[in-house]
Amino acid sequence: MDDLAIVAATIADLDVLDEIEQHSFKGAWPRATWRDELDRGWAYVELARLAGHARAYCDYWVVAGEVHILAIATHPDFRGRGIGKRLLEHALARGRSERCTLATLEVRRSNVPAIALYERAGFRTVHVRKGYYQGDGEDALVMLLDL
Ligand SMILES: CC(C)(COP(=O)(O)OP(=O)(O)OC[C@H]1O[C@@H](n2cnc3c(N)ncnc32)[C@H](O)[C@@H]1OP(=O)(O)O)[C@@H](O)C(=O)NCCC(=O)NCCS
Repeated sequence: MDDLAIVAATIADLDVLDEIEQHSFKGAWPRATWRDELDRGWAYVELARLAGHARAYCDYWVVAGEVHILAIATHPDFRGRGIGKRLLEHALARGRSERCTLATLEVRRSNVPAIALYERAGFRTVHVRKGYYQGDGEDALVMLLDL
């Protein structure tokens, strides 16, 4: 995928972030939340552009020596092509370059594709948060990767 570029999202990308998210999650973030993420000095919102078009995003924080992955999503029409993996690798590489020692995330217990993506990157489940998700009360797996 030579024509894939990972770039920082800006306020001009709100529509595309929203579109990918609407196709990827049950409860989408309000735009205000995206604006907050784009404003936070420690947050990185990155887009994967394929042939110039944004097809996936990753939102993560780099805080206190830790990379925390908040959300990663690929538009359904473009899944299974290695885009999520590239975005995740990019986030982890930034963490390493900023001397982070740990990457963390939470994921729904039923989210097989995401868990596979994370395990493929080396994450391991270290804890289960029972009933973590509001609404349906699904458990969250807490996953860690030593960087
Ligand atoms: C999880 C998600 C981001 C993966 O994105 P993607 O671009 O399709 O992922 P990739 O093509 O880079 O796949 C990378 C690895 O993930 C795993 N994977 C991806 N899709 C999978 C699926 N449907 N079933 C099983 N494993 C899967 C595989 O291990 C794959 O590596 P491999 O192809 O070398 O075996 C995507 O499915 C998605 O957007 N889901 C909805 C949003 C979401 O749940 N995000 C995660 C919680 S924040």
